Amino acid sequence: MNEKKNIDTKNIPVGVVGLGLMGCSIATCLLIAGHPVKAIAPVETDLLHAGKRITEHLTKSKEEGLTPSSPQSLLKNLTITTDYSELKDCALVIECTLENQEIKKSVYEKIEAVIRPDAILTSNTSAIPISILQKLTKHPERFLGLHWAEPSHTTRFLEIICGELSDITKGEYLYDLSHSWGKEPTLVKKDIRGFITNRLMYAMYREACYLVENGYATVEDVDRACRNNAGYWMTLVGVFRWMDLTGVPAYHTVMKDLFPTLNNQTTIPKLIDDIVKAGGRGVANAHGFHSYTPEEAKLWEETFKEFSYEIRKLALKYPADVVKKKLKK
Ligand SMILES: NC(=O)c1ccc[n+]([C@@H]2O[C@H](COP(=O)([O-])OP(=O)(O)OC[C@H]3O[C@@H](n4cnc5c(N)ncnc54)[C@H](O)[C@@H]3O)[C@@H](O)[C@H]2O)c1
Repeated sequence: MNEKKNIDTKNIPVGVVGLGLMGCSIATCLLIAGHPVKAIAPVETDLLHAGKRITEHLTKSKEEGLTPSSPQSLLKNLTITTDYSELKDCALVIECTLENQEIKKSVYEKIEAVIRPDAILTSNTSAIPISILQKLTKHPERFLGLHWAEPSHTTRFLEIICGELSDITKGEYLYDLSHSWGKEPTLVKKDIRGFITNRLMYAMYREACYLVENGYATVEDVDRACRNNAGYWMTLVGVFRWMDLTGVPAYHTVMKDLFPTLNNQTTIPKLIDDIVKAGGRGVANAHGFHSYTPEEAKLWEETFKEFSYEIRKLALKYPADVVKKKLKK
């Protein structure tokens, strides 16, 4: 892993376009890292909540020791506006709008009309291939994926994705820069739908739906197994180190007999289809895989926020190079 380089973030203005759930936590992360942030609200409703949400994140971040700076001093670096021309000095712009190609295309037109020729344009898309999105822009070589995990100011996850036409040196620049954001980034040099983490996670979501739909276990049982198995090691190691730690040959043996039985359906599972068609969004409207009273749903949201600060503390004790650091002592 790269060491954090001394990059003067205060001279690197960054634009965030789209101030929903992720745009607000990305803006928070960038403010804590010292960047001037131009936050663009493509829809008026963003203006109603973005300032409040970012202030709450900054207040909690100060309380939790993520930053020594007061929310008031960090907020001086933040501009929230509907006016895209505020992006004109930005060295980097992060698009964070709905996962919809048409919407993203119209937003790129507005961004490219005002940004500098040397500015890097990125998308936080979860799964639209960067090679497709970059073709919606005038300068595909400066377009890359920058895939964050919510809440962006507490998680150390970041994927930097090069599309077919991306200039890899820009990916390398973002890789270095993102160390100043508290990230342990991954540079995905060759574009693939879902990038890395969503390919891994969706394999798990598919199998989880299969197990429930076919009566092997309940939603509660599948969740309990995930939390208490992978949940106990995934903050320390990834799947390969996990196999190293627990004995590689056993995995070799199991793969032979288990792989042919794993689900590989290519259609959307009925379990999730029924929920979405009935309007379920999860805790956001107290209608998901589990049942919730509105009060329970709200408490789950709050508990997740609280947990994200707690797990960050544990994660910081175990960086990717934890063993190398121990050897140096
Ligand atoms: N939520 C996650 O955990 C997560 C994780 C990784 C990546 N992402 C990706 O980040 C992006 C944003 O996700 P989110 O969870 O913040 O969504 P969100 O629903 O909270 O926010 C979406 C934002 O899109 C913008 N928007 C809505 N309608 C628009 C329109 N007609 N024109 C222009 N802009 C419009 C608004 O700024 C709105 O706040 C998506 O591409 C999503 O796939 C989300």
